[in-house]
Amino acid sequence: MAIPVTQPTLMVKQLFDRESCTYTYLLVDSNTREGALIDPVREQFERDMQIINELGIELLYTIETHPHADHVTSSGKIRQMTGARIVFGESSGIQAIDISVADQQELPLGKYQIRAIATPGHTSACTCYYVDGMVFSGDTLLIRGCGRTDFQDGDPSNLYDSITQKLFILGDETIVYPAHDYQGRTWSTIGEEKKWNPRLGNSREKQSFVDLMNNLNLDLPKKINEAVPANTSVGVNFDPRRYLLHDFTMDDLHEIWRESPNNTLIMDNRTVEEFAKGHVPGSRNIPLGTEREHVDELKEFEQIYIYCRSGRRAQTTFTNLGFQGLDHITCISHSGMPNWIEAGYPVETK
Ligand SMILES: [Fe+2]
Repeated sequence: MAIPVTQPTLMVKQLFDRESCTYTYLLVDSNTREGALIDPVREQFERDMQIINELGIELLYTIETHPHADHVTSSGKIRQMTGARIVFGESSGIQAIDISVADQQELPLGKYQIRAIATPGHTSACTCYYVDGMVFSGDTLLIRGCGRTDFQDGDPSNLYDSITQKLFILGDETIVYPAHDYQGRTWSTIGEEKKWNPRLGNSREKQSFVDLMNNLNLDLPKKINEAVPANTSVGVNFDPRRYLLHDFTMDDLHEIWRESPNNTLIMDNRTVEEFAKGHVPGSRNIPLGTEREHVDELKEFEQIYIYCRSGRRAQTTFTNLGFQGLDHITCISHSGMPNWIEAGYPVETK
């Protein structure tokens, strides 16, 4: 029997935080192993990092759908661990982020484009993200519900316009992945919500929706006083860019390579396939995610230099090994093999 050929796909892992009923989504291009994490939760940091490491994912982004009031994000910590860039809608005004996306702006992820859709209403900074037939709808559109509009610059009239003019125009078959569900439902579709959403489905009039939203009289979220200020500093209370200050480049690595000092290892942590296509002569391939198997032998070296393609995977391994007690590692965190090739330095293949 023929072995089925697996087509490259966009893999989606839907992860759950029981306390806040938050869904976190890990998106991975199965071909390039590049990934994005949407709405990560502080209490689930270890879980999320374990999956990223085990699957050998190069995390490009942590993406926030909005400044949450019910839980604290782990995006600052994840950036520190992986070098992923923090993405927020441009109206968030949050300083500590890396990419503020405008309406319809696209973020490349492997062969896919993640498209930001500005959807103010639940908060003024809410952004949904569309990719490959799926919309990650944050708290803008929930399954048979929608986000509340009574704090954080919420506005029911804006929410109505955002949902009806920006989400309901997506195809009926579009999968809706919300930021929360309190009843165990995992996804919906635009078609279902247009028809069955009790708040604004079935072509409900705007004024009737606004009246409904203005009379919900809900309790405030338990964590609001902690979560909102913490999330405006992406969940960390130190300078998150500190780890980027030491900037060792491939040119610096070339100097080391020429001198080839004793007991020094140059480590390439890209995939076996990437390594085979061309690497720094004499470097050793330890792909991201496998470094823990080599901790004992790595401890034997006096100095280790890690590079990859762009620096993100090197950054991840650098922090992983740091947690294993290895403090003699230099990480090339802003450049990689393409820069080495471009500079005309020798390349080894095998
Ligand atoms: Fe929210």
